[in-house]
Amino acid sequence: MHSSSLLRFDRFLPTLRKTIGRKRFLHSLGAMHYAVALAQRYGEDTVRAATAGLLHDCGRLRQIEQIEAETRRRAVHLPPEDRPFVKVWHAWLSADMAATDYGVADEAVLQAIRLHPTGDARMSSLEKIIFLADYIEPTRQFEGLNELRALAEDDLDSALRRALETKIRYIHSQGRSLNSRSLRALEDLGGPVWEVAPFSPPEKRHDESLA
Ligand SMILES: [Fe+2]
Ligand SMILES: [Fe+2]
Repeated sequence: MHSSSLLRFDRFLPTLRKTIGRKRFLHSLGAMHYAVALAQRYGEDTVRAATAGLLHDCGRLRQIEQIEAETRRRAVHLPPEDRPFVKVWHAWLSADMAATDYGVADEAVLQAIRLHPTGDARMSSLEKIIFLADYIEPTRQFEGLNELRALAEDDLDSALRRALETKIRYIHSQGRSLNSRSLRALEDLGGPVWEVAPFSPPEKRHDESLA
């Protein structure tokens, strides 16, 4: 990471800390850390990974009502399939805020931010890295996490498939409906592997396990 990027990051931090609160700020630093490690492992651009990792939840305002209101106020475009899923709105709001409030112009970074809660078919390496970094960053705690981290260091697609499967099964277990984007992502990777990946629901530390 070159020095100009680090200086820019220095400007991001106080605003981000204030906007999303201490817990999510620490989660974001963890995601940045993990995204950089995965980017190095898989030959992806580390500045892009760090930027997307740090800002992926920059629109995750403290109350869901605030997220809804701000998304509407800014007239953030929400694809029709995501409109019923208020929990994923923060991803679209975060991409809008990353561009407008933090000056991120890199569309690859913005798209990785948009897809971080759900994934999608035909994801780029950067998008896969950010999805995983959000899910397995150091402040997370859930059963099977260490295995998932080991898998992430070994095989990006296998780790993503396992992470998607775990997330989808958790949402099923709560009786909630599933965003079709997540199903497309899993299908794109070969579909579920239920029989070899017994489900253990992640512990909800700060409601990030779903988004
Ligand atoms: Fe997150
Ligand atoms: Fe998120």
